[in-house]
Amino acid sequence: MLNIVIFGAPGSGKGTQSDKIIEEYGVAHISTGDVLREEIKKGTELGKLAASYIDEGNFIPDSLMIQILAAVLDALGKDIKGVIFDGFPRTIPQALALDEMLADRDEEISTVIGLEVDDAELIHRIVLRGRTSGRADDNEHTARHRLENYHHMTQPLKKYYIDEGKYVSIPGVGDINEIFSHIKKVIDAVK
Ligand code: AP5
Ligand code: MG
Repeated sequence: MLNIVIFGAPGSGKGTQSDKIIEEYGVAHISTGDVLREEIKKGTELGKLAASYIDEGNFIPDSLMIQILAAVLDALGKDIKGVIFDGFPRTIPQALALDEMLADRDEEISTVIGLEVDDAELIHRIVLRGRTSGRADDNEHTARHRLENYHHMTQPLKKYYIDEGKYVSIPGVGDINEIFSHIKKVIDAVK
């Protein structure tokens, strides 16, 4: 199976490139942000709890997030070509949990694609999207906080995956199709 982690800061293009990867390789998509926003939309207890974190640009606690991810992964079943993990893992405990979950299924991460975009461009993209997205966290103040959390808690994962020999850095600025053509080369080399 093709198990891809798409890694990058808020607004780096994880969702945009995931759509292209799904179209090309037919893998399943797990976007933890989308999963949580769906719960918010449905007004569930989990959604209410998630909103209290997301709207402030804070992370959902690891133990809860890991439980949610495990349930979503189980629900996909075994009859899939692979999974693209978008927005998970975001912390070292989440990365360790994912390795364990995949090992339990005799699987492992095939590659980690890291989209590199500078902070000014990220803020610009998020503020621009905020005009139409309806996302409470798409404003400059919250975007800056999301970015701080990314630098403090998520970026250390880059070293974790470099040490595992899995991290591939991809420039995430410019034409979306050109970025995807770089990603495609990386995936074709591991599939
Ligand atoms: P999540 O939904 O994952 O948000 P995020 O990581 O902040 O990233 P975004 O979805 O905003 O951006 P993206 O990288 O997908 O980029 P996109 O393609 O949309 O998480 C939201 C929240 O949920 C978190 O803050 C946290 O609270 C919680 N959460 C989620 N997962 C969690 C976890 N594992 N643990 C704890 N908490 C968790 O692109 C962005 C914009 O740029 C779009 O408008 C797009 O059209 C545009 N764009 C894309 N590519 C380009 C390009 N090349 N040039 C110009 N514009 C571009
Ligand atoms: Mg996204």
